[in-house]
Amino acid sequence: MARVAIVTGGTRGIGEAVSIALREAGVTVAANYAGNEERARDFSDRTGIQAFKWDVADHAACAEGVQQVEAALGPVDIVVNNAGITRDGVLAKMSAQDWKDVIDTNLGGCFNMVKPTFPGMVQRGWGRIVNIGSINGQAGQYGQVNYAAAKSGIHGFTKALAQEGAKKGVTVNAIAPGYIDTDMVAAVPAEVLTKIVAKIPVGRLGQADEIARTVVFLCAEEGGFITGSTLSVNGGQHMY
Ligand code: CAA
Repeated sequence: MARVAIVTGGTRGIGEAVSIALREAGVTVAANYAGNEERARDFSDRTGIQAFKWDVADHAACAEGVQQVEAALGPVDIVVNNAGITRDGVLAKMSAQDWKDVIDTNLGGCFNMVKPTFPGMVQRGWGRIVNIGSINGQAGQYGQVNYAAAKSGIHGFTKALAQEGAKKGVTVNAIAPGYIDTDMVAAVPAEVLTKIVAKIPVGRLGQADEIARTVVFLCAEEGGFITGSTLSVNGGQHMY
């Protein structure tokens, strides 16, 4: 029986690459998305991967979404918490809403998604949770107190939950991508991005596929001894 995975934010950017790579590795994938219907439809048409709509910041919606996926595809063995947003701005200009939206989606989304899935993994004695953190959660970033706090929180969340899953066959790991060539990074002002790329030793942005292959590695059947770790995939920009 193929493993079943949910990839949040799984129809675009890094999430799209992760959904496709897991499917290529023989996993049955449900790609979650929040709002971009057109992109989700296009993604499903191109890949044949089913897309499911709910907002990861909404606790009840996550429970319902997981129920829908399980009814359609079977018990969930793998969760990739990838959904994330930015609301960049210096602290002086950051509204309380910008703070809350980013914390609720990027960090709250991880909690909301593991609540309905972790117990089943524990019961069945096998599970893989991969949380997409960020270089900016490790190193901080000017104009991102909300995003850096949420991503840093993900790294703590990962280490804590890893301890709860360890004896039950459920691994919990994080990946800390650097600057990856996605819509999110394209939204950074060009002159700012040029300066950032100049500081990446590898000399370029990363590709979504380079994160996806790391997710596949962590989700492998043979990955049972890797838990609580954070894998940096950042072109050498931050060595942690
Ligand atoms: N360190 C110190 N000072 C900085 C700075 C930095 N890194 N960046 C900018 N400044 C300074 C500027 O030089 C400028 O100084 P002066 O006023 O003295 O000239 C001042 O701060 C204001 O800078 P901006 O004009 O850029 O201010 P702004 O309000 O227009 O924009 C900002 C601020 C929105 C934060 C903008 O700088 C920005 O978008 N920065 C990029 C943030 C970023 O990297 N986001 C990552 C998004 S991708 C992602 O998050 C994925 C991932 O996981 C990696």
